[in-house]
Amino acid sequence: MRQDHLITATQLSRDDIEAVLDRARAVADDPAAYADRHAGRVLALCFFEPSTRTRMSFDSAAKRLGMNTIDMGDVDSSSVSKGESLSDTVRVIEGYADALVLRHPSEGAATLAGERVDVPVVNAGDGAGQHPSQTLLDLHTIREDHGLDDLTIGVMGDLKYGRTVHSLAAALTEFDANQHFISPESLRLPRSVRFDLHETGAQIREHDDLEPILDELDVLYVTRIQKERFPDENEYHRVAGEYQIDAETLADAPDDLTVMHPLPRVDEIAPDVDETDHARYFEQAHNGIPVRMALLDTLLENANPDGDEGTEVGR
Ligand code: NCD
Repeated sequence: MRQDHLITATQLSRDDIEAVLDRARAVADDPAAYADRHAGRVLALCFFEPSTRTRMSFDSAAKRLGMNTIDMGDVDSSSVSKGESLSDTVRVIEGYADALVLRHPSEGAATLAGERVDVPVVNAGDGAGQHPSQTLLDLHTIREDHGLDDLTIGVMGDLKYGRTVHSLAAALTEFDANQHFISPESLRLPRSVRFDLHETGAQIREHDDLEPILDELDVLYVTRIQKERFPDENEYHRVAGEYQIDAETLADAPDDLTVMHPLPRVDEIAPDVDETDHARYFEQAHNGIPVRMALLDTLLENANPDGDEGTEVGR
């Protein structure tokens, strides 16, 4: 990966993805070898929307590379509540850190931040747009079980607002996957995402029901209905509760089917699925550590190609 920022999954080539995932495997095999690699560097965590996994796993990943982290805290307790623009906020924080992780409710927020600052920016979710670091850990999980070639995946749930879906679908076009999208009519993939997938020649099909294609799948990727993105709460209540799976749903699934979910889940996957051999969503979340360590390591290496010169402080 040559870029300094990770803004969208579409910027990642097959080689980029494989390089980060290879490094993630190396990190997982020998974490001690990476323990001091970025000692003295600082990662800024800027979350304008709720987060548990992404914030904490970036925090943990950075510390396992020897970094320190600083956290903007809740939007309500930051200067954002005084009306500061995103552009000003990130330009200030860039002076406090060597890399910046940003989650924001507006699509395009990370693109803007990437244009304003020189330190690496990772898009940790921009509205219903993209969430590319989640995609890297999703791909790592898939690769460990099935490899990434000749994959048949079913992606089910909120395909309209689910940013993890948009990023994963884009990245999988690099591997010629067969992609099935299962959702209610009102939560189909956005036109722009479908268009981009078609442009790459991707094999995609859309379905109302899981049942007819379940036996073809290597991976079933389930997502939460993104309640917070619905302009109309009634609309949310019309689709909430559809597309749930339980152990019974999976009774005739292929033995090696991998069930994934970016988490948090609400009621899309019943707890009895956790006890089946298909469930992989907790390992998936845990893979956030080696994958985000590998990602930060790669981005910081790109940003400091001449080796470890230490961090510039002030002017
Ligand atoms: C996802 C997100 O924020 O897009 N969460 C995550 O980072 N694992 C999925 C979701 O909120 O449903």
